[in-house]
Amino acid sequence: MSQVQSNEWLEWICSSQSLDELRTNYDRWAETYETDVKGVWQSVPVAAALMLAEHLNDKQNTILDVGAGTGLVGAALAASGFKNIIGIDISSAMLAKASETTAYQTLVCCAIGDDRFKTLEKVSGIIATGVFAVNHAGADELSILERSIESEGIVVFTARQSFLPELQEAIARWTLLDSKVMPIYDDPICLQAYKVSNITPSFQ
Ligand SMILES: C[S@@+](CC[C@H](N)C(=O)[O-])C[C@H]1O[C@@H](n2cnc3c(N)ncnc32)[C@H](O)[C@@H]1O
Repeated sequence: MSQVQSNEWLEWICSSQSLDELRTNYDRWAETYETDVKGVWQSVPVAAALMLAEHLNDKQNTILDVGAGTGLVGAALAASGFKNIIGIDISSAMLAKASETTAYQTLVCCAIGDDRFKTLEKVSGIIATGVFAVNHAGADELSILERSIESEGIVVFTARQSFLPELQEAIARWTLLDSKVMPIYDDPICLQAYKVSNITPSFQ
């Protein structure tokens, strides 16, 4: 992203005013994303994958990486031994980078809850880092994920501490298993794992 300085990327991406604008901005950012976030963000996908691995012992389970981006989470999940990973993202350019890893069995360009998303199989684990944020995805999208997870499945996601109250409506139904605060920004990143026990009808 040549015209955006690395210290401005966060403000720039969170100023996107629609899903289409967000998609366009991530498409533009894909080439330099990993270089720009290196050192600040990179520990987050790794910590999230480790948290999921702690709560989901069978590595044959299928995992859905929501907002897979360039594949940092997929690579960390694969390093933890997971073999069946589906990645989804609104940005085809970010997914093109993710496809350069060998982590994912399937990559689908779609948004949480859209028609393509609804065709995905139910999974045992869902992971989403950097997705539940201002002008990205909120409580409605988090609730939609409930329909993609098997009963007793595990959801691991991140959110800024200040954004967590926005997600309460969805997570109030789930059982908190694990929580970690990562003080990489003044408004820290909260990493949380939940068990989803209620059986929610799938989309089909
Ligand atoms: C900050 S990046 C994080 C990427 C990766 N998870 C990581 O930790 O490096 C957020 C990603 O979520 C995707 N995204 C944002 N909103 C989304 C939505 N509603 N549905 C699917 N993907 C979305 C963006 O395109 C982007 O690739």
